[in-house]
Amino acid sequence: MKKVTVSGLLKKKQAGEKITSLTAYDASFAKMFDEQGIDALLIGDSLGMVLQGEDDTLPVTIDDIAYHTRSVRAGTQRAFVLADMPFMSYATPEQTYANAAKLMAAGASMVKMEGGRWLCETIQGLNLRGVPVCGHLGLTPQSVHVFGGFKVQGRDADKAQQLIEEAKALEAAGIQLLVLECVPSSLGKAVSEALTIPVIGIGAGKDTDGQILVMHDMFGISANYMPKFSKNYLSETGDLRKAVQQYILEVQNGEFPSAEHSFE
Ligand code: KIV
Ligand code: NA
Repeated sequence: MKKVTVSGLLKKKQAGEKITSLTAYDASFAKMFDEQGIDALLIGDSLGMVLQGEDDTLPVTIDDIAYHTRSVRAGTQRAFVLADMPFMSYATPEQTYANAAKLMAAGASMVKMEGGRWLCETIQGLNLRGVPVCGHLGLTPQSVHVFGGFKVQGRDADKAQQLIEEAKALEAAGIQLLVLECVPSSLGKAVSEALTIPVIGIGAGKDTDGQILVMHDMFGISANYMPKFSKNYLSETGDLRKAVQQYILEVQNGEFPSAEHSFE
């Protein structure tokens, strides 16, 4: 079995093939997603909401993510595994190195951090020390209290241009993947075209290089609510494995996300 690598993901973008991704938090689901052929699994700090029942991702700790990363790694043979750096675990470069080391030792192949230009020095430092980095722009949930709620970002032309510039700065600093969350579809397209590296969208329209969903949203079993950009594949298929297969298929053939699951 050929493992998915960061260069494999880049090749997919270059070939115009969509990258499929889900969050995972334990070995059993990771194994099942892996067997269905998912490209990447993210141990997201969304676990604060879907596993711990919190209102947002802020209470999640580095040890929480490390614990779940170990579980996902144990269940995964083929997919690329990346893990979230939680709130305030990357406030300074030195602190980031120590915390990223915990996630890499737990089995992550890349760490993800929310934010723009201010992270460039940290990203360079991580790369030099052997840690690949995924960026995260748009609606960055750790900043929910700055935004004043979970709101679509980059709606006006100025903000959209600013986001494109931030994305380019992150790429120049060394990120090898970018998650783009809750932005208008036009901006999702523009960012994906502006970058060489793959852009994985969630609520960012159909033109990003790939898609990611929180697994609990994709199964329609999230504790609190279902975001507009998610789709319940379990109710459609009535079977966990078929739900994953259907999600992968619809991302690959461009059926998901439709306008109903996107922002204009
Ligand atoms: O924590 C998470 O699940 C995420 C994805 C929504 C991209 O960051
Ligand atoms: Na996250």
